[in-house]
Amino acid sequence: MAHQWRGVIREYIDRLDISSDNPVITLGEGGTPLVEAPALAKLVGAERVMLKVEGMNPTGSFKDRGMTMAVSKAVGHGAQAVIAASTGNTSASAAAYAAAAGIKSVVLVPEGKISLGKLSQAVAHKAQILQVQGNFDDCLDLARVLSENYPVHLVNSVNPDRIEGQKTGAFEVVDALGYAPDFHVLPVGNAGNYSAYFKGYLEDFNEGRVKAIPKMWGFQAEGSAPFTFGNPVKNPETIATAIRIGNPASYDLALSARECSQGQFGFATDAEILWMHRFLSQEVGVFVEPSSATGAAGLFKHSKMGEVPAGSTVVITVTGHGLKDPMWALKAEDGSDIEPTSVPNNAAQVAEQLGLSKN
Ligand code: F0G
Repeated sequence: MAHQWRGVIREYIDRLDISSDNPVITLGEGGTPLVEAPALAKLVGAERVMLKVEGMNPTGSFKDRGMTMAVSKAVGHGAQAVIAASTGNTSASAAAYAAAAGIKSVVLVPEGKISLGKLSQAVAHKAQILQVQGNFDDCLDLARVLSENYPVHLVNSVNPDRIEGQKTGAFEVVDALGYAPDFHVLPVGNAGNYSAYFKGYLEDFNEGRVKAIPKMWGFQAEGSAPFTFGNPVKNPETIATAIRIGNPASYDLALSARECSQGQFGFATDAEILWMHRFLSQEVGVFVEPSSATGAAGLFKHSKMGEVPAGSTVVITVTGHGLKDPMWALKAEDGSDIEPTSVPNNAAQVAEQLGLSKN
């Protein structure tokens, strides 16, 4: 029987806050693979570690799960334009879903601080892009003010439709495993996704699909770690530009998710993030953007503190595709540029370069 994944709204319609006659704007998001990562399990001393590979979504990040909901409902309300502040992935997703819906998108991004891959997506989908002289937090303040005073519909994760769509990530983990993992680990910026996974697991728990809720572990980059320091960070800095956020929009929601799940927040340094970015590419075979390696980097760090019990099952959401921000893969550990060696079109010379001797 032919079957194609129908996108998260149609797959989970009875578990989402959307009416059955609402228009559905979908690009086929969700249904992403849960990939076994034995090398990582060995590294952290867990029984099983699996990666929820969200780079497999249509625009290359987890944002599409929330954007299908937010844009569908915006269209249902008759909106002609959506607006989003973004470190890059939200803008790529908003632009694509607005294009699919035939409406306009406006995106506000921090000047010079979003990766080229993400900027190119917003351009490709014909968003109106404004680079704001400020950081992400400034962009979000602006987007909020504009949406309150002008006819543009806000699709950042302060819009509950986004969280509602993103909770389907947890549904899929439970559907794939038949149970909830002991730990669910994520990189954290605004903490919208952290809160969304918790919501999904909590609903699965309340409806009897799982017996327990995973401990939710969220990790930020050291230079932008308000959850660790307990206060907003005024000038957040990290190479992980997707999570360069000092004043998380879902702060309170995430704090209650942590408490209810007996989870924790922590941070990883930029060096630890880049080390894990390389490990995931080289030892697991999954290419993610640097920000997306922050969860695994935090897990590794906390495993060294003895916090990962030997029998545990861990799921880590790796949030965005490596091609979003590819320049980091082209750098060696010492920061030098990696360039493939040039060779003549000659088998003997190519073999010599490769150190192969004839059989
Ligand atoms: N990972 C990636 C690749 C992201 O793009 C983001 C957020 C996060 C993790 C953190 O998710 O904010 O829900 O805690 N990116 C937003 C954006 C801010 O504009 O694309 P969060």
